[in-house]
Amino acid sequence: MDQGAYLAALQKYCPYADIRVWQDVVETNWQAEYALVWKPENELFQHQQSLVAVFNLGAGIDALEKLKDLPQDVPLYKLREAGMGQWMLEYVLYGLIHFGRHFDRYHRHQTAGRWEPKNTRSLREKRIGILGLGPLGQYVANSLHDMGYNIAGWSRSLKNDLPFPQSTGLESLNGFLAQSHFLVNLLPATDETFHILNADRLMRLPRDAVVISCGRGSIFDEHALLLQLQTHHLRGALLDVFEHEPLPIEHPFWKQDNIIVTPHIAAPTQADDAIKQVLADILDIELGGDQLY
Ligand code: GLV
Repeated sequence: MDQGAYLAALQKYCPYADIRVWQDVVETNWQAEYALVWKPENELFQHQQSLVAVFNLGAGIDALEKLKDLPQDVPLYKLREAGMGQWMLEYVLYGLIHFGRHFDRYHRHQTAGRWEPKNTRSLREKRIGILGLGPLGQYVANSLHDMGYNIAGWSRSLKNDLPFPQSTGLESLNGFLAQSHFLVNLLPATDETFHILNADRLMRLPRDAVVISCGRGSIFDEHALLLQLQTHHLRGALLDVFEHEPLPIEHPFWKQDNIIVTPHIAAPTQADDAIKQVLADILDIELGGDQLY
């Protein structure tokens, strides 16, 4: 996270604000009203008495929720789309095209000098299952739907006005997985989503399905996912997020040739968009709104 970019954006849109950077503050008695944080230390919250709201400078609040002194009575805001949607969409499109248009095969064939065009069905005939319909999941799903792809969504609660089929609840998950030729993980890390894709559920995916994971890694039983890829029940995986990050050097994902590992870069927070959202939320609070996310 580029702190300089945030300070520049804050100063640009909010020139009169009293801004302190926590790492630079040596005295322990300073008090903030609005804390903008990304994976802060617990210590940050130990002496705060004037907090009005905490803003997480990312979409996922899992790191923050683990802190024991995170004040329970102060509203916590997270980034919604905030300019990250297009990045996430590009990441997902890369995985769809890489595997769906057989670029993985052509890349392998190149090393052997093999000229072997493969007949293939249109990607539009394949079902793309989006797990997680939060702001980023909806952005990706709606965009792909608008591009003519065959989309279905699954999430914890039903969302209004989505132009593609959606299902909700654990009881519908196996059916959803069974129809997903491409499975896109955009779920957050919560107690309910931990290892939700275990060995049994991963086996429900159709043969040759592709997994694209860019929400949180803890939703997979990684050992089970690896097995499905080693046995070629699954065709391939593009993975950006992992149960432990950085992905440990000895982790077998690194060496598995039908997995592409990327270092949590799918959708970096966009400082300008993030600060605009935070400022709009602060204005809303100051004007007496009570919109919580
Ligand atoms: C990044 O992982 C985020 O939560 O925004």
